[in-house]
Amino acid sequence: MRGWILYRHGESDKARWSYEISSFVSLGRKAGISMRVFSADQFPLIIDSDRPDGTIAMDNLLLKVPDFVIPRMGAVTPYRLLAVLRELERQGVHALNGADGVATAMDKFRTQQLLVREGIPTPRSLLISDLDDIERVEKELGYPLILKGITGSKGNGICLCEDRGRLDDYMELVGDSKEMKLIAQEFMTDSYGRDLRVFVIGGEVVACMKRQAKNGRYKANFCRGAIVTEEEVTERIEDLALRTTSALDLDIAGVDLLFDGDDYVVCEANSSPGFKGIESCCNISIPHKVFELVKRTVTSRPTTTVGMRVPKGQPRATTIK
Ligand SMILES: Nc1ncnc2c1ncn2[C@@H]1O[C@H](COP(=O)(O)OP(=O)(O)O)[C@@H](O)[C@H]1O
Ligand SMILES: [Mg+2]
Repeated sequence: MRGWILYRHGESDKARWSYEISSFVSLGRKAGISMRVFSADQFPLIIDSDRPDGTIAMDNLLLKVPDFVIPRMGAVTPYRLLAVLRELERQGVHALNGADGVATAMDKFRTQQLLVREGIPTPRSLLISDLDDIERVEKELGYPLILKGITGSKGNGICLCEDRGRLDDYMELVGDSKEMKLIAQEFMTDSYGRDLRVFVIGGEVVACMKRQAKNGRYKANFCRGAIVTEEEVTERIEDLALRTTSALDLDIAGVDLLFDGDDYVVCEANSSPGFKGIESCCNISIPHKVFELVKRTVTSRPTTTVGMRVPKGQPRATTIK
């Protein structure tokens, strides 16, 4: 079985691989799965209807497409990577996650629109696309409220506004642009500095942790130093997380739940969630679980590439083991 990871840095830049990428590669080897890592820039993406099926141009080679692909670009996936992913999907490569799911999860506002459509609770939110929207935001949400970009991760670009002064400060910082893309969101006071991260793989909740921010901060991201502890998966947590991943079409996801009294609201879903935090407090190996899913759901392609005929003008052929 052969799998690819699409990441910021390919195999010539291993020193910059994250914990997650290195884990997938080393544990893949143990599971009998060969994992290769490429960056989207390595694919020239030639649209050529004569190219032999089951191949893709990479650097100056023609590679046989893998059995499956895992995009791991983080919250902001460039168009180029989505295009490579779409090309692989077009050729029948099993993608976990697919390009549509990645693009949806990247857009926090689109995510909320889809959640609401499925009756999944999520914080009241408004889109700010110019400064004229501010009055409406104040009227609809009141204070405190949260401002965040429609894309982003690790708590970056998120601001808690307790009053109009803070809101104006943030807007001044952002500046008046032609088309702003900001979300103004109800601040879930019950969730101040704490939330749940639910890890879903292949329609199954595999782990859940509580994140508690340090030093009175309100952002509970693990990378910001939050303390993490394993959390029991109740029926409600499972129901919300699985309905979310199904609404967003995600095979692998980290779903963030915010506390709301005795219940929760869904904050967002991450399509390439980090897993150092959850592995540190729950007895789980995320790559192991992903490989189990792959072995259950993906069938290997036949491996015969020697002597592949390469059309004129195409990069030369190569053989992959
Ligand atoms: N509406 C909200 N109410 C309360 N806390 C929030 C809200 N939105 C975000 N947070 C806090 O900020 C953190 C980061 O927000 P999130 O929307 O998940 O962005 P990111 O993609 O940067 O993780 C959340 O984990 C949570 O602790
Ligand atoms: Mg988050």
